[in-house]
Amino acid sequence: MDLTNFYNWRYATKQFDIEKPISSKDMNILKEAIRLSPSSYGLQLFKVFIIENQELKRKLRAYSYNQSQISDCAAVFVFCNYTKVSAVDIDEFIELKSSIQEKELSKLNKYGDFLKSTLLKKPSKEVSTWTANQVYIALGNLMTSCAALKIDSCPIEGFQAEEYNKILGLENMTSAVVAAVGYRSSDDFSQKEKKVRKKMNSIFEHK
Ligand SMILES: Cc1cc2nc3c(=O)[nH]c(=O)nc-3n(C[C@H](O)[C@H](O)[C@H](O)COP(=O)(O)O)c2cc1C
Repeated sequence: MDLTNFYNWRYATKQFDIEKPISSKDMNILKEAIRLSPSSYGLQLFKVFIIENQELKRKLRAYSYNQSQISDCAAVFVFCNYTKVSAVDIDEFIELKSSIQEKELSKLNKYGDFLKSTLLKKPSKEVSTWTANQVYIALGNLMTSCAALKIDSCPIEGFQAEEYNKILGLENMTSAVVAAVGYRSSDDFSQKEKKVRKKMNSIFEHK
């Protein structure tokens, strides 16, 4: 496994092959890449909508500056972050932790109280920024996993979140970022272009 090859192979796909779906086996691996992504305190305060329905994809394209990736890819992943954290979210997390790790609830309650004392008083704008930052970690994992499976993807911020939110019927959540996932069209000119990246020494400094 050469990770650098994956990073060089992938590119922000502009034109997808509309005829090529993602197998359910690969779809499951991609979903696991997102589900297993790390998040702050492990709370996973996000939801990902996977849209394969052509009519719905077309609707979303209209609010994505008409980018063809949205309608032509096999699946649109819409990463939505919570705009609020509630005591219920924290209680559910503590219960999940207790059942998976076979720890007594009473031993975890203190940790739950600590989470509540730090998170419930956060202003909503701060909560949104904090939860949105975390979906980008999952987005990164999705794109690398796609590359490892020779599946193409395009990260997309060029869309109208408010309109997406209405179409998806979101409550206490907002669309943060999108990934169009599928297979490149042989006509996509972008696959032939060289990667434009800064030199190593302008990004990294060893001290
Ligand atoms: C957060 C984010 C948002 C992006 N939004 C769009 C977009 O709306 N439309 C698009 O065609 N490309 C979008 N891109 C792709 C970038 O333009 C692309 O990743 C960058 O130019 C580097 O090229 P490469 O990914 O092909 O190596 C986005 C990339 C990121 C990381």
